Amino acid sequence: MYEVPYYNSKKTDDICEDVCGPEARAAFSMSRVCCILKGMDFKALLLLLIIVPTCIGVVYLHGQKISYFLRPIWESPPKLFHDIPHYYHENVTMENLCKLHGWGIREIPRRVFDAVLFSNEIDILTLRWKELYPYVTQFVLLESNSTFTGLPKPLVFASHRDRFKFVEPRLTYGDIGGRFRKGENPFVEEAFQRVALDQLLRIAGISEDDLLIMSDVDEIPSSHTINLLRWCDNIPPILHLRLKNYLYSFEFLLDDNSWRASVHRYQPGKTRYAHFRQSDIILSDSGWHCSFCFRYISEFIFKMKAYSHSDRVRFSHYLNPKRIQDVICKGADLFDMLPEEYTFKDIIGKLGPIPHSYSAVHLPAYLLNSADKYKFLLPGNCRRESG
Ligand SMILES: *[C@@H]1O[C@H](CO)[C@@H](O)[C@H](O)[C@H]1NC(C)=O
Ligand SMILES: *[C@@H]1O[C@H](CO)[C@@H](O)[C@H](O)[C@H]1NC(C)=O
Repeated sequence: MYEVPYYNSKKTDDICEDVCGPEARAAFSMSRVCCILKGMDFKALLLLLIIVPTCIGVVYLHGQKISYFLRPIWESPPKLFHDIPHYYHENVTMENLCKLHGWGIREIPRRVFDAVLFSNEIDILTLRWKELYPYVTQFVLLESNSTFTGLPKPLVFASHRDRFKFVEPRLTYGDIGGRFRKGENPFVEEAFQRVALDQLLRIAGISEDDLLIMSDVDEIPSSHTINLLRWCDNIPPILHLRLKNYLYSFEFLLDDNSWRASVHRYQPGKTRYAHFRQSDIILSDSGWHCSFCFRYISEFIFKMKAYSHSDRVRFSHYLNPKRIQDVICKGADLFDMLPEEYTFKDIIGKLGPIPHSYSAVHLPAYLLNSADKYKFLLPGNCRRESG
């Protein structure tokens, strides 16, 4: 007996019915297509039931990746910076260094103010202040009892202030209450705290033409860069600093494209503390940006929840301590994201974990002098202490 595959319902009444029976097996091709379509009803439905949820699942899990990968199509790169060549050697006089940059030398150096919004980066703050100490007039630090994402947080600096006795005579400290607005864009709280930092700077006594460093705690200008800028005349009024981008420690060098840190010749009533692009000029090779350079896994978890892109924690297992430790040692991405780049070449070039670096040359001096205390920041020491 001839079998009609997949099709055995007789109650339909469409035009295919009479050509699908065994008696129509010699019918011409149009009818055969009809039969096949009929036969596929069930299979197609099954397929649909599998494919559609899979597609939704893939987009849900990897939607961010898809959109990042396609970014070169819908977004063009920002205007390139004009890079100023940076000259430095410890044995070259300041007069010569200024001249190499096309600047003159001053009779006395400018005063320098280093202002930061502090969250919980105790270790990196120590490195920063030790690096800049010789040339900074006032360290200005503001902390809030709210994270940018509106979570309550302890005043971490206040409770560790005794560790920073070495800056005490040059420290202007302020704390500020969070506004704890539910569901607000984190950038609003951040902007609010930056305005408060402007006020704290005036309290610290900043005045016309003093140098002001605007950067996050983990964006550390090298001390010779700041020394150069305070001694030379005619430097640009606003100068971005190109920093080497590290992740987790100085073992993972991502690139040298960190640009947000800037140095300003302060203008009363005009200079506003900001962390976005404020000029087109950038000084090459001016220091280090060490993101997520924490001693304890608990600090990683706090930062992942607290910072302005906390929406990147899409799954709770991202906060699993064991996973975080593995990600750190591999140099992989904590949020399982694709590189944020503007060209396919750059995206593809940065896919996968960051290669290990074995260089600890040209790092902050204090780090090498206190290597026993800051091992976790040096190559070959990716395992974090518990706590
Ligand atoms: C730097 O200068 C000192 C003293 O002038 C000299 O002894 C030393 O050899 C110089 N170092 C380098 C690397 O040129
Ligand atoms: C945050 O600080 C402000 C001002 O110091 C205080 O009034 C408020 O109760 C604090 N909130 C929390 C959650 O600690």
